[in-house]
Amino acid sequence: MRGFFVTGTGTEVGKTVVAAVVARSLVASGARVGVFKPAMSGLEDGGEPDQALLRRAAGSAQLDDEIAPYRYGPPVSPHLGAELAGDPIDPARLLAAARHASGRADVLVVEGVGGLLVPLTLGYLVRDFARDLGLPIVIAADPGLGTINHTLLTIEAARAVGLQVALVVLTPWPDDASLVQRSNREAIERLGSVRVETLPELDLGAPESWPTLRPGD
Ligand SMILES: Nc1ncnc2c1ncn2[C@@H]1O[C@H](COP(=O)(O)OP(=O)(O)O)[C@@H](O)[C@H]1O
Ligand SMILES: [Mg+2]
Repeated sequence: MRGFFVTGTGTEVGKTVVAAVVARSLVASGARVGVFKPAMSGLEDGGEPDQALLRRAAGSAQLDDEIAPYRYGPPVSPHLGAELAGDPIDPARLLAAARHASGRADVLVVEGVGGLLVPLTLGYLVRDFARDLGLPIVIAADPGLGTINHTLLTIEAARAVGLQVALVVLTPWPDDASLVQRSNREAIERLGSVRVETLPELDLGAPESWPTLRPGD
């Protein structure tokens, strides 16, 4: 399988935005891009669901069920969403669905759920899924105070199981970045021995205006 697994330092840190920009950048370089999200919760909160933005960015014709086989209304951890829905997440079904999505594309962009140690079931974490797919990871993180620790913890958790960290993306990155934000970028690069890029505030409705982000370069 070829592609990238986009994770983050937590929830609401920009994973969907980063995954969308990566997907669109791969499309721009001529690839057929599939997208995938192992589980989604918080659908009852409204707004454009992650799978819709990912599909739009990738120019994909995948159905909702093909992108995100497990979808829940309440904003809770996937293992709890599954329990409340009375339908536990089956890792084998997830892997089969991701392979199906990848089989009809040149590259697959997967968006994780929350951070790496979020349980899909109490015995199968997002990190286990990333490892089973064998894709290099991209970490979305906030540029501000606290991000050095969160990002380095995520890098350690990834490398501890042999996951390759391709890129860290700080998002949204302001035009007039502060001393703290610029210093965070340098510290993560140096202490994490990792490439760090930034994404400015984007108009999510206008993908043609987005910059390119190629974690494989
Ligand atoms: N570069 C950016 N441009 C515009 N909005 C951003 C950017 N980065 C993050 N956001 C906003 O931050 C919020 C969280 O981002 P999202 O990608 O949904 O996070 P996650 O997938 O990690 O939960 C969203 O409202 C998103 O639109
Ligand atoms: Mg998301």
